[in-house]
Amino acid sequence: MNAPASTLSSRTRLAEQEREAYQRFLGAARAYWATRMFAGVQRQVESEIGAPDTLNDDFRSRVEALPTYQVFAWFERHLQRMRYSGHRGLAAGVEARRAELSNVLSRPLPEGLLTLNTELRLPSYFVDCDIHQQPGGVAAHDLSAFIYRDAVQSGGVVGVASLHDRHVQRVLERFRPTRILDMGCGFGRSTLAFAKALPEARVCGVDLSASCVRVAAHETPEAMWGRVNFLQADATRTGLPDCSVDLLTSTMLLHEMPEYAVRQLIAEAGRLVRPGGMVAHLDFLPPEEPLLRMIYEGHAARNNEPYLLEHSRINLQEAYAAAGFNSVEISDFAETDDALQLPPARWRLPWKLILAVKSEDA
Ligand SMILES: C[S@@+](CC[C@H](N)C(=O)[O-])C[C@H]1O[C@@H](n2cnc3c(N)ncnc32)[C@H](O)[C@@H]1O
Repeated sequence: MNAPASTLSSRTRLAEQEREAYQRFLGAARAYWATRMFAGVQRQVESEIGAPDTLNDDFRSRVEALPTYQVFAWFERHLQRMRYSGHRGLAAGVEARRAELSNVLSRPLPEGLLTLNTELRLPSYFVDCDIHQQPGGVAAHDLSAFIYRDAVQSGGVVGVASLHDRHVQRVLERFRPTRILDMGCGFGRSTLAFAKALPEARVCGVDLSASCVRVAAHETPEAMWGRVNFLQADATRTGLPDCSVDLLTSTMLLHEMPEYAVRQLIAEAGRLVRPGGMVAHLDFLPPEEPLLRMIYEGHAARNNEPYLLEHSRINLQEAYAAAGFNSVEISDFAETDDALQLPPARWRLPWKLILAVKSEDA
């Protein structure tokens, strides 16, 4: 026999509250992991092992043998799994809100805001991995982007609210573009940060995931309609016209692509950016300090980031020079005011800003 509607909705509410409490607990556990547990690993390594000049196999195996490090690694892997999966995970939470979220996606959009490509073949590196441990990744189904959005909004290493505004400000210190292309735009937060800061600019977000660009289009405030658009396409071959952008930007894209795809992306940047224009990637490069580097490399496996280290193997100066860019600058990026303090008070991803300027005569 079916339960009465009122009982169902109070059960749904209770399940929702339980999920929220569970996710808050995971957030607190994650904060503890990134601060006190990280500090414990640092202390023990310092007192029992010391620091070699560079990361080597002996240091690696001695650190891996420390129970403190093993617990730290376990927490990273499993807090992330628990965040997404299981009946209180974010994936189940989005599924429980399917009707409400599908309703959001069914609202009419103005012409040109969203272009989907049902013929697009998704590369195997993109579909064969549950990136970040999100079941099926960000393109598994129509609501996948909401799951990714909930994960970002629930905090953690990429959930810092000011991240994209800071990226935009760093770019604007150098350059004021009017045609902007945001590669790997996700659910649009990186794209809309540029549109907000530059009210005169036209901004296009590109992503392989239909779910991501659909959610991004529906998140776009009406005041931006007509100058913002989202396109489902591969960043390595967008089909957009030659020399059609002043700025090609990406945030957290390079480290999700294998080396060959990053090289294709750089070649595509050489085609799309007009002479004198610029590329700005906000991404990660491995830290020098041995323990931080080891934790970063371990993060690749623990967070399902199989390509995390690939773009760091590319000589970016050479690759950008071959694509017609005459200077490449790589600098530290502070996602918060105290992010770069030494010694680090918390585990953080090694953010870098990579800027390349296209030759005027390219
Ligand atoms: C970590 S997310 C970052 C999203 C967004 N830039 C942000 O900062 O919130 C990386 C995004 O890149 C997209 N992506 C990965 N490979 C891509 C490719 N070859 N072309 C276009 N998008 C890609 C993924 O679908 C995902 O949405």
